[in-house]
Amino acid sequence: MKKKLVILTGAGMSAESGISTFRDSGGLWDKYPVEDVATPEAFHRNPALVLEFYNIRRRELIRAKPNEGHAGIADMEKDFDVQVITQNIDNLHEQAGSTKVLHLHGELMKVRSTGDESLIYELPADKPEINMGDKCEKGYQLRPHIVWFGEAVPMITEAAELAGKADIFVIIGTSMNVYPAAGLLDYVKKNVPVYLIDPKDVNTGRYDVFHIKKGASEGVKELRQRLGDPTIGRV
Ligand code: APR
Repeated sequence: MKKKLVILTGAGMSAESGISTFRDSGGLWDKYPVEDVATPEAFHRNPALVLEFYNIRRRELIRAKPNEGHAGIADMEKDFDVQVITQNIDNLHEQAGSTKVLHLHGELMKVRSTGDESLIYELPADKPEINMGDKCEKGYQLRPHIVWFGEAVPMITEAAELAGKADIFVIIGTSMNVYPAAGLLDYVKKNVPVYLIDPKDVNTGRYDVFHIKKGASEGVKELRQRLGDPTIGRV
């Protein structure tokens, strides 16, 4: 049986694909205050601005391609039972070929009804936008299928269960600032090796994390070398 490799990814995973991170300098939250574009209150106050923010994000995603890190993770399915848990709303893991991807914070290319949250639609790549007046089949305004700050994170229960089943746990490109995602590490069993791939120091709250201090593409390469070599265990 293949070992279960659970990989938690954040914005840094897609940085080398040209998608902005949130909290690095010049990151998205410097340009657009969170409270203006990513909360239910913002959508209530100025829905057109919120919709435009995500329309811009979608246009950015349409231009982007998965990087070598995404590709490496998809390739690891040959040797491991790989489960990706991503905070990212892009679909670059799927584009790279990963088959098990859980999106904690929603999906950029999907929209849903404001009146019936079970009505979820995939946007076409040739018109990746919604505007005021775009409605679901029941006549309610559409909104991004995104978990905004202050909203529940419905996928967290499943994500916690998956984290609890990991034989190896990997964290890539997240500042571990946002809960409940950052708390997933608490569900990982004590004897499970934990790797972190990030060019910067990240406070994971665990002392025994092996830090590969590189960007996603190079970092995933090193991870694969380390996992493939039985003489290099936990350091
Ligand atoms: N490769 C790997 N990691 C990188 C790279 C790279 N090329 N470039 C930057 N990073 C790292 C940064 O050092 C940082 O630790 O990616 C991390 C990005 O952190 P954040 O911008 O805080 O993004 P993230 O942790 O994914 O944010 C979590 O916050 O605003 C919300 O909902 C949004 O899902 C998002 C959540």
